[in-house]
Amino acid sequence: MKAFFDELKKDHKEVKDILEKMSSSSKTAEKSREKLFAQLKEELVPHMKAENVAFYSVLMDKKNARQNALEATEEHNLTEMVFRQLEETPAKDELWAVKVKVLKDLIEHHIEEEEQEIFEIAQEEIEKDDFKQIMQAFQQEKEKVKSSIS
Ligand SMILES: [Fe+2]
Repeated sequence: MKAFFDELKKDHKEVKDILEKMSSSSKTAEKSREKLFAQLKEELVPHMKAENVAFYSVLMDKKNARQNALEATEEHNLTEMVFRQLEETPAKDELWAVKVKVLKDLIEHHIEEEEQEIFEIAQEEIEKDDFKQIMQAFQQEKEKVKSSIS
């Protein structure tokens, strides 16, 4: 159980670090912005899909966690929408930094809710023994999505 939460937290930190670098990048550093975006894509998209498939699908079936799981996956949808818009925005466009800001706020809020609330609820609702299977499914799905986008 702890190993699973630690793995998610590690991913979260990675994503937050990339977003931090993106938000302090300058308009003229197009190449480095593109590189950071590619890094974000490789981290963020597989992570969210894997959370949905391995973790939120389980929480959806728990009465006391369903609402949180619905909200969190909806935030994933919203995050993906903003992310796709950013993907269409040239790094030199003034909107690039604006979209990064919106995306960063959205993701930071989402991660905070996951780490502060949802992990705790999951700990109460999911059997300890089930976490091994969840972790496995999470890693598998992440790898699958990663190899499909790169
Ligand atoms: Fe998430």
